[in-house]
Amino acid sequence: MADVSRPGRLNGRTALVTGASRGIGRAIALRYAQEGADLLLTATNRAKLEETSALAQAHGGRVGLYVADVSDRAAVLALVDAAVATLGHIDVLVNNAGVYKAARLVDYAPEDFDRVMQVNVYGAFHVMQLVLRHMQARGRGKVINIASTAGKWGSMNQSAYNASKHALVGLTRCAGLEMGPHGINVNAICPGFVETDMLEAFRAHGTILGVPFDKVKEAALARVPLRRFLKPEEIAELAVYLGASESDGMTGQSLLLDGGMLLV
Ligand SMILES: NC(=O)c1ccc[n+]([C@@H]2O[C@H](COP(=O)([O-])OP(=O)(O)OC[C@H]3O[C@@H](n4cnc5c(N)ncnc54)[C@H](OP(=O)(O)O)[C@@H]3O)[C@@H](O)[C@H]2O)c1
Repeated sequence: MADVSRPGRLNGRTALVTGASRGIGRAIALRYAQEGADLLLTATNRAKLEETSALAQAHGGRVGLYVADVSDRAAVLALVDAAVATLGHIDVLVNNAGVYKAARLVDYAPEDFDRVMQVNVYGAFHVMQLVLRHMQARGRGKVINIASTAGKWGSMNQSAYNASKHALVGLTRCAGLEMGPHGINVNAICPGFVETDMLEAFRAHGTILGVPFDKVKEAALARVPLRRFLKPEEIAELAVYLGASESDGMTGQSLLLDGGMLLV
């Protein structure tokens, strides 16, 4: 039920946000709280999750947290049960948890490739499937997958990450098709470079190429027409739109938010 003391575009809505302990997930959680949503936040680092939770609570509303590894099916089953128990129901799922590992394709350790797939693809699948069952029973809901520009093109030395994000774009299309008749919107955001801990993982590119991190960043920026990295808060704005009723007519889309990176 809408809380008249907390006006906002997500007032009266409930949301489950994965990867909420830092970075883009934290920014989305805080914007959602500001827009009036009640939240269940999840990640594996409890201390960081508690920080996000405290910041979100400052906006009022209910904020619960649950520690879970999204690649663990049993943990995700318990997570979704906890979200429904805490919030009553889930209106919006923000499927944001993700990992990154840079390595040349010929050197990629199978266990590293597997981990990227387990978190970025299977993790997104587990959470999405279980939440979609819940939403289908209600005949409404919105899912927002955080994919990447890496889901739309090829990049050097990050084959597992790109393969995982292409898979997430594909999952988003298929889910959009299957869920449309059930009144559920499924869309993805494809960010370009965003200033978070994940950008630090870019250091490995420098090591692989034998160039300093500053040069790697310069080269990355040269590919962005707007000549800057994005802020997590800018991704959160699009996540608010996709979680609110303004986007009711959109499904199956993977929206670029990349400073124009894929124009060149
Ligand atoms: N930064 C970028 O340039 C960029 C660009 C395009 C797309 N993205 C995507 O945006 C999403 C968020 O990335 P970010 O930049 O905010 O990165 P980040 O700062 O590294 O945050 C990643 C989040 O995912 C969580 N996570 C990782 N593995 C997990 C697991 N097994 N189970 C549950 N949670 C897990 C982390 O929490 P814990 O450590 O607490 O588990 C953390 O909250 C990712 O899907 C990423 O691929 C990022």
